Amino acid sequence: MPFYSFINKLKSNMKKLFITSALPYANGALHLGHMLEHTQSDIWARVNRAIGRNVRYLCAEDSHGAPIMLRAEKEGISPEEFVEGTRKEHWKVLQGFNISYDHYHTTHSIENEQMVEQIYSKLKENGHIDTKVVEQLFDPEKGMFLADRFIKGECPKCGAEDQYGDNCEKCAATYNATEVKNPRSTISGATPIIKESLHYFVNLKNFEGMLKDWMDNGALQDQVINKLKEWFEMGLQSWDISRDAPYFGFKIPDTEDKYFYVWLDAPVGYLGCLKYVCEQNNEDINDWIAPDANTQQVHFIGKDILYFHSLFWPAMLHGAELKVPDSVFVHGFVTVNGAKMSKSRGTFINASTYLKYFKPDYLRYYYAAKLSDKITDLDLNLEDFVTKVNSDLVGKLANIASRCAGFIHKKFDATLASELHNPELYQQFVEASDSIKELFIQRQYSKAIKQIMALADTANQYISDMEPWKTAKDENRQEEVHQVCSTGINLFRVLISWLAPVIPDTATKAEDYLIISLSNWDDVKTPLLNHKVNKFKPLITRVEIKSVEEMIEESKEDLKAIEDKPTINGPLKDDPINEEISFDDFAKVDLRIAKIIDAQHVKGADKLLQLTLDLGGLTKNVFAGIKSAYQPDDLIGKNTVMVANLAPRKMRFGMSEGMVLAAGPGGKEIYILEPNDGAIAGMRVK
Ligand code: 2FM
Ligand code: ZN
Repeated sequence: MPFYSFINKLKSNMKKLFITSALPYANGALHLGHMLEHTQSDIWARVNRAIGRNVRYLCAEDSHGAPIMLRAEKEGISPEEFVEGTRKEHWKVLQGFNISYDHYHTTHSIENEQMVEQIYSKLKENGHIDTKVVEQLFDPEKGMFLADRFIKGECPKCGAEDQYGDNCEKCAATYNATEVKNPRSTISGATPIIKESLHYFVNLKNFEGMLKDWMDNGALQDQVINKLKEWFEMGLQSWDISRDAPYFGFKIPDTEDKYFYVWLDAPVGYLGCLKYVCEQNNEDINDWIAPDANTQQVHFIGKDILYFHSLFWPAMLHGAELKVPDSVFVHGFVTVNGAKMSKSRGTFINASTYLKYFKPDYLRYYYAAKLSDKITDLDLNLEDFVTKVNSDLVGKLANIASRCAGFIHKKFDATLASELHNPELYQQFVEASDSIKELFIQRQYSKAIKQIMALADTANQYISDMEPWKTAKDENRQEEVHQVCSTGINLFRVLISWLAPVIPDTATKAEDYLIISLSNWDDVKTPLLNHKVNKFKPLITRVEIKSVEEMIEESKEDLKAIEDKPTINGPLKDDPINEEISFDDFAKVDLRIAKIIDAQHVKGADKLLQLTLDLGGLTKNVFAGIKSAYQPDDLIGKNTVMVANLAPRKMRFGMSEGMVLAAGPGGKEIYILEPNDGAIAGMRVK
């Protein structure tokens, strides 16, 4: 390593480290896609803590914006109440995955408002804020300007109906919302009018030179640099940072009814959270964020929000005379079983649903085993997930300890030997420690895991070769058994110490067994000799594919819950009719009158009732998502209509052999079709 980079490295190792993940938006549940980023950043934070860096690892709820305001209104609560509810839910799930944020804040906080005002006033003072009158679509019924996603109409290019206000899904054209033909507001259904309003802009052009320098300083991945170059070539546009009332956010100082756009106060939320934590610890935030602060500031983000983090965010910070980020680490998206996560296939899996079926360490390990420092997408193949967890964590890692621990406990008073049988092998492990650490720091987790697992194979091979289960029978070789098993336990200790940032739950169990802390990276340099251990308990259990199937089934049910959410404007406005099908498609659906001969609650299901349906001699078992609207007893004896030829579907609670027809927004308002008494069970519905 050249001398100057050695010195730089030493310097950066001494700096305080400020790490963030992108702030989850308060408008929905966390899913396994989100968990990739939280896992990636958490491993990085934990490794950095283990090597002795002073780490502030922070995140918060992204709480502002029109969608949240409207969602809270729909639910009949204040936006403040709504976002606090989601913040708590998100934080619970993040803790469930052992994401070790030092604090999880909200962007709707006094600290954030103060930071936003500080940054804005500096930008203004330094001449980076412009104003301009813009024309926008306005919903006269709701009395608000409409963002593109709240407008639907005909595509100005190809005429396709029901297209959003910014692009056409049919012909891929992009356009201004004011160009949409026959526009309607998706909020009220009203026809919008064009209205003028004064908007505030950050003049991004002013920062072009600074951004290019920042890009060249080497802190960004190659793919990110290429993207930035493309954007520079296209020319930087001024950024509209204001929104008109009504809006849920922070008021722009010296205005009556203008608010900061949510994407302005969201990244500032990183600093809002830091400010809160500094205040709690009597620290001066300027020691972290002043341009010359002795800190390293690193943001983990997904590739979809790169523009905000690589152009707007460093520009804002620079313009406000604050430290710019040292690195923006970008990752790709998660696909499941080789395809985009799909609600209908049950592969759009909520993080809380995952936790009902699996330990957090399994997914953390799987993600780590596949993560690199590139922006490529990561495929969560669920069969591979089961295989990998079982073969690596159970079959390799835990196996080392379980093969040796029994002997130590039974024969040697639960105390490790005073000498290792194979100190050279132990030394070989210790020597790998630096390169594994470096791979983690470089975010090349898959390479680190590969090395660790190769050494786990070596350890297992060593135990197989030594066959302590055979030598244990020989009275004259007891010392050898003791030393061999102590070597095995020591090798296990090194492996689990490296893996502790990846699988913290398992590491905690190993700490209990070994009666040591695994939190310092370099502790493994000294082996555990003459050291008391506890009775060994299994560290990790096998994953069953059945649990994967059940999780997928439940995710399909989660989808039903989403689809069942009431709409406020009548079904068709929010839920456009699906793509046309041919008459032949329709003719395939065999609709029959079915008599409900039994209805029962389903243990463990929030939304389902189990119906036994008579089709005139043939009985079918159907699970129907109508529990919120019907008591089982009210249904028994009623006629309804069912799709009789739907392929049976295995659900978590059993096989469902069809569907009953029902309509309604959800909750109490679900209506099954009820043909009158003249209908006879089994009759075909024409
Ligand atoms: O894309 C998102 O989900 C945003 N809530 C991320 C915000 S990151 C930061 F800017 F706050
Ligand atoms: Zn079009």
